[in-house]
Amino acid sequence: MSEKVLDIVNLNKFYGERKVLKNLNFEVYAGEIFGFIGPNGAGKSTLIRIISGLSAPTSGEVFICGKSVQKNFEQAVANIGVVMENCQLYAYMTGRQNLNYFASLIKGIKKDDIDRIIKTVGLENRIDDKVKTYSYGMRQRLGLAQALLNNPKLLILDEPTNGLDVNGVIELRRTLKILAAKNNMGIFMSSHVLSEMEQLCDTVAIFDRGSILEMRTMDDFQNNSNSQKRFRIRVDYPNYAGKIISLKHGLDVELAGNSVIIPYIPEKFDDIINDLRRRNLTIYGTSVVTKSLEDIYLEILKERRYGKIS
Ligand SMILES: Nc1ncnc2c1ncn2[C@@H]1O[C@H](COP(=O)(O)OP(=O)(O)OP(=O)(O)O)[C@@H](O)[C@H]1O
Ligand SMILES: [Mg+2]
Repeated sequence: MSEKVLDIVNLNKFYGERKVLKNLNFEVYAGEIFGFIGPNGAGKSTLIRIISGLSAPTSGEVFICGKSVQKNFEQAVANIGVVMENCQLYAYMTGRQNLNYFASLIKGIKKDDIDRIIKTVGLENRIDDKVKTYSYGMRQRLGLAQALLNNPKLLILDEPTNGLDVNGVIELRRTLKILAAKNNMGIFMSSHVLSEMEQLCDTVAIFDRGSILEMRTMDDFQNNSNSQKRFRIRVDYPNYAGKIISLKHGLDVELAGNSVIIPYIPEKFDDIINDLRRRNLTIYGTSVVTKSLEDIYLEILKERRYGKIS
């Protein structure tokens, strides 16, 4: 079992009557990339501020490598690097001057260490230019470099893919994967862009209104048996076909354009198709479709907010 780098225990945060975090509990391990996914206002940044010690919880505790952020702040935060939404950088200094400055606040960082980090984030070519000439993506990379200076065991990123173009996202993904695999860093990142997390995270928590609704490994999400698969039937009168399937065959039905989408139950499939044909419907084609993580996520949010709908 690898080391627990983050342990969130019974964490609550209230702003007056508003309960922003409700009794959260979860863990992140060394080498694991943990995605914390939730819509705007869910409480992601609030949680990250508490993990980083920038804000105090109403109750509960955060442990980083076994040290309590609330009781043992200095020792706890010695093990983390944080990239907030808008990282604080000095625009009139060069990238390297920024890093040298932040490095001077931490003991024992050598020039070689800084050069290595600059390479890791891919800023070699522009590191001696002033930050005010940087693009948004380059500033984000410099922010990441700054967070890596103390060689953290836990790296925390708040919506790191926000504002990056496709290449930026791909490069960030590659960098984070290397950090987790080679340096055995635990990585905790928040996002509301699910498709980007799908390819990166080992574990995903779906979070809304202060609570984790669902937490699973990516393998679970993606390969989880037949419940992630559905049949799509392209047909000339999808409304009519949908009614027959739900009323006569008792299945949940979804209409999408000229298709009816039904649960993946191979035993019932032939019956259904024959029935539709008997009723003179024309079937143009059938296929198996897999739910994306995005579909699953939206379903879970809908279910929890409005009750189960089918
Ligand atoms: N200082 C504060 N005082 C009162 N309410 C706050 C404060 N900070 C945050 N909140 C509230 O807490 C809730 C969660 O906010 P938070 O910024 O953590 O959400 P988020 O998940 O990061 O959203 P986004 O995706 O928009 O960044 C919101 O309802 C917000 O209004
Ligand atoms: Mg936020």
